Amino acid sequence: MTVKNITVLGSGIMGHGIAQVSATAGYNVVLRDIEQQFLDKAMEKIRWSLDKLVTKEKISKQESDAIFARITTKVDLAEAVKSAELVIEAVPEIMDLKKKVYAELDKVAGKDIIFASNTSTLPITEIANTTTRPDKFVGIHFFNPPQLMKLVEVIPGQKTKQDVVDLTVNYVRSVKKEPVICKKDVPGFIVNRLFIPMVHEACWLRQRGNYKLEEIDSAVKFTMGFPMGIFELADFTGMDVIHKATIELELRDKKVIFPHKDIEALYNEKKLGQKSGEGFYKYSDDKYERIQLDETLAKKCNPISLAANILNNAAWLVTNKASDIAEIEKAAQLGLGLKKPIFDTAKEFGIKNIVNELNSLASKHGSFYEPDPLLISMQ
Ligand SMILES: NC(=O)c1ccc[n+]([C@@H]2O[C@H](COP(=O)([O-])OP(=O)(O)OC[C@H]3O[C@@H](n4cnc5c(N)ncnc54)[C@H](O)[C@@H]3O)[C@@H](O)[C@H]2O)c1
Repeated sequence: MTVKNITVLGSGIMGHGIAQVSATAGYNVVLRDIEQQFLDKAMEKIRWSLDKLVTKEKISKQESDAIFARITTKVDLAEAVKSAELVIEAVPEIMDLKKKVYAELDKVAGKDIIFASNTSTLPITEIANTTTRPDKFVGIHFFNPPQLMKLVEVIPGQKTKQDVVDLTVNYVRSVKKEPVICKKDVPGFIVNRLFIPMVHEACWLRQRGNYKLEEIDSAVKFTMGFPMGIFELADFTGMDVIHKATIELELRDKKVIFPHKDIEALYNEKKLGQKSGEGFYKYSDDKYERIQLDETLAKKCNPISLAANILNNAAWLVTNKASDIAEIEKAAQLGLGLKKPIFDTAKEFGIKNIVNELNSLASKHGSFYEPDPLLISMQ
């Protein structure tokens, strides 16, 4: 099957971006939402984004108009999927809502149409099994904002056919993104499995070591090669997103995450991060504001427990055949912006020291910290 026509369900933060990158690659796109006013807003955002590319001379005005003209909007679902070969769903991250959307979609979509969900945390297989076509159902996890972020995780469910995975990977490449296949439908896929637990571990480190936020963040940035501190990254991502992801991860696998109460507390206090003016840090306006971090502060904190946490989750993905080291490093570089591979950081600490750290944490705080067999074998 060749894909020429794509329908995107949901025109919010992710949906409008996915529509834009697809139209830019030459696909005919139908954008669908439940009210025309949402679609109008989405089209305004797309126009704004394309205009910016014209101003920066990345594309011509003529190209921008052609891209824009390739996107049409529809509220009627049957109409919206009439010509599609691929439907990409980006409706809110609520399982019952997703299931309802797929039940409606399944009824009106031609039997060969492939369904791809942009879910960040929900199990692909569970959603797929509510449709009559779990073999034609796949996870396609774009990162925010889709116009800029290079990485897309592709996640086959238990019954997804290989040709559907291949087609999805080809589509991802055609929109000039880098696909990373998460070979198993595991909680958090690859990037969120590395990132979300580490935010909690940073809260534990802060509590146990009585560190300042900036000390941990400086160590994360300068010792571990992150593009920014982990608390800064959490504020940037949003405590709503992190809290929701935490619930989903914990629900499905107790070994992946050791939740710290600070995340839920910030979420309950509506301290969502940059977007609400306060999260771990306070922000004076809603413009993106960087926290002052430096190498002197970095020396005040040894982040070995954080390196151990991300490494243990990376090792888990390998041991459980969801990914391999090269793919994990690619995902971490493109999805988290890491400047240094995770396993290189681990070698700087010494894998033996990391394993010792995990064993010591396990003896104090429980089996969550037990080192993955891969790490033990790498010492
Ligand atoms: N925002 C992020 O950072 C991010 C990153 C990666 C993946 N995701 C995932 O992408 C999906 C969408 O997230 P978002 O942030 O774009 O949400 P959003 O709330 O910005 O947009 C969702 C849109 O879906 C629409 N919608 C609701 N019900 C619908 C229906 N039945 N049919 C069509 N549209 C419907 C809403 O009106 C809204 O416009 C979620 O699964 C989320 O987990 C989000």
